[in-house]
Amino acid sequence: MTRYQTIPVSLNVTDNNRALVVGGGKIALQKIEWLKKFNMQVRVVAMTVVPPVDELAQRGEIRLSLKPYDGLEDGIAMVIAATGDQTVNQRVYRDAVSKGIPVNVVDVPKLCTFFVPSVVSRGRLQMTIASNGDAPALCRRLRRELEALVPPFYEHYVDLLADARTRVRQAVADESTRASILKHLSSERVATQLASQPAMQRAAWFENEITHQLSLAPKKMSPPGTVYLVGAGPGDTGLITIKGLRVLASADAVLFDGLVNAALLNSISPAIERYDTSKRAGCALRTQDDINALMVALALDGKTVCRLKGGDPCVFGRITQEARRLVEHGIPFEIVPGVSSAIGALAYAGIPITDRDSASYFQVVTGHEAPEKTESRMNWKDIAGSKGTVVFLMGVHRLRDIASKLIENGKPDDTPIAIISHGTLPTQTVFETTLATAMDPELQIPEMPRPALIVVGDVVRLRKELTWFGQ
Ligand SMILES: C[S@@+](CC[C@H](N)C(=O)[O-])C[C@H]1O[C@@H](n2cnc3c(N)ncnc32)[C@H](O)[C@@H]1O
Repeated sequence: MTRYQTIPVSLNVTDNNRALVVGGGKIALQKIEWLKKFNMQVRVVAMTVVPPVDELAQRGEIRLSLKPYDGLEDGIAMVIAATGDQTVNQRVYRDAVSKGIPVNVVDVPKLCTFFVPSVVSRGRLQMTIASNGDAPALCRRLRRELEALVPPFYEHYVDLLADARTRVRQAVADESTRASILKHLSSERVATQLASQPAMQRAAWFENEITHQLSLAPKKMSPPGTVYLVGAGPGDTGLITIKGLRVLASADAVLFDGLVNAALLNSISPAIERYDTSKRAGCALRTQDDINALMVALALDGKTVCRLKGGDPCVFGRITQEARRLVEHGIPFEIVPGVSSAIGALAYAGIPITDRDSASYFQVVTGHEAPEKTESRMNWKDIAGSKGTVVFLMGVHRLRDIASKLIENGKPDDTPIAIISHGTLPTQTVFETTLATAMDPELQIPEMPRPALIVVGDVVRLRKELTWFGQ
């Protein structure tokens, strides 16, 4: 059996290129509209046509011949057949192949020498998605996702970049300096700043940016790369923010901690340098100082660094130490917030962290600090007296201590609690009990792999109604 494989290419067309569409129904109309987007001169041959095709002909936008297909005239650049008659389709295919003209018989892959990909167009930026004609619905979905990810202003951005490329080529002789300026101008940082300008001022803002970059070039000053401190979300790879994903996908190096879902890292380019900074990673990067030093060294080497942390980087994420070190070295940095497990894991467990009737506020507390520590900063009276939801991170191994401290300090012992393990992942498990029972040495807590957290408060009761994940 013949196996088909497609080679993605983009055809160069001019305004004079002529295309033939055989058939005049709704599908033919879609193809006509597609061809017209690229200024092709479209001729339609069909026995009957739907009204919009007729209207296009009336307005002189296409040439219409109401007659049976009777062969290919010369000078046709491509042919699309969209008739319900397989005999006609096959004849069109044979004629086109014999003349070496690209042909597509709609929905009949074996009668196609080309497929029409799904396209996201932003002016001269064209992103095409194709599946050998085998998964058109998936291509359509991906096209919509790309449309949302690459906003319309990219049309203008690409024009600005095209001009910048010419200018930088003329002004800078050194190839690597040129490449680094163009990389900077195409970066997520510049794109975001450009997007935030009023449309009328984008060109002027970009012009300033080019001028600034060109002024650095003769001094051979290569500015440090930017470090992004990014939240990966609690586990489900879909919970990283769009900005976080953009930064991750376009970084030169990523330093990731142990809570980051490996699937997220598997989805990025193998060209990105990866550094595992988790405790399980062996001896290479054990201490916070080692991690800071590596981050600084990579940025000073001009690399864009993504420091990827589980959940939100500012929630028990040691962000202050890392950001301070960057400030000391004059390295630009940005914080890209993420969905904290304190909120995300609860949501996936069917426990909203606040609720109109049962919790008007919440506290996120470390369970890592020993409750009996003399210099403790924990105000157990305050935490126990809370009428809001209390979430303990890093505390499951101290569940009994935490429960007893809360009761000792006045929390009712029938307060419901839940332990959520692997929140937001397919392996998520939730165990519900009460403070009193949690203190019981006889309590058999099922095997709850880490990471896991404890949530204390009346919102836990809502789970009965609101469980949704894994249903
Ligand atoms: C060092 S803290 C970091 C918290 C993280 N920055 C955040 O915002 O979720 C690690 C603790 O977060 C909690 N945690 C993180 N991911 C979790 C998940 N998917 N399910 C349950 N708990 C999680 C656990 O309590 C774990 O011990």
